Amino acid sequence: MSIRPILIHPDPRLKKVADAVDGVSPELKKLAEDMLETMYDAPGIGLAAPQIGISKRLIVMDCVKEEGAAPQPMVMFNPEVKWSSEETNVYEEGCLSIPEQYAEVTRPSEVEVHWTALDGAAQSGKFDELWATCVQHEVDHLDGKLFIDYLKPLKRQMITRKMQKLKRERARA
Ligand code: NI
Repeated sequence: MSIRPILIHPDPRLKKVADAVDGVSPELKKLAEDMLETMYDAPGIGLAAPQIGISKRLIVMDCVKEEGAAPQPMVMFNPEVKWSSEETNVYEEGCLSIPEQYAEVTRPSEVEVHWTALDGAAQSGKFDELWATCVQHEVDHLDGKLFIDYLKPLKRQMITRKMQKLKRERARA
């Protein structure tokens, strides 16, 4: 397994609509393992393939946050939100592609998702609380959408400028 570099916003690769995966090949399994390792190392609770520059519909998540609790890694190929609740929830979101910037985003509080699992089997499940927010945030990445796209333009521009500055600083270092 290896840790992959995470793209920082703004980057055109984060704005692309990712391609559906056609079956779970050994290469894609390896990619999913690398993504989990990259996510845990960051550390983060979710990561989408476009964030490491791979335009494929693949996300990984683990929203277990209680200290000492067993990890619950999830790998989803071609995830699709099939149903969302009317009821909404507000979470302060962040993103590994937008380091150290957080903002409240309102999303449906419960969703039903269909996806293909690591073993190639079709799966579905209902998610609520942090898991619901996380899976919607990650599926958004597959459609080239970031959580800051839900914010008012001024706030979004402020964050984007901070990220441009961060990238300039990193390039110089
Ligand atoms: Ni993100």
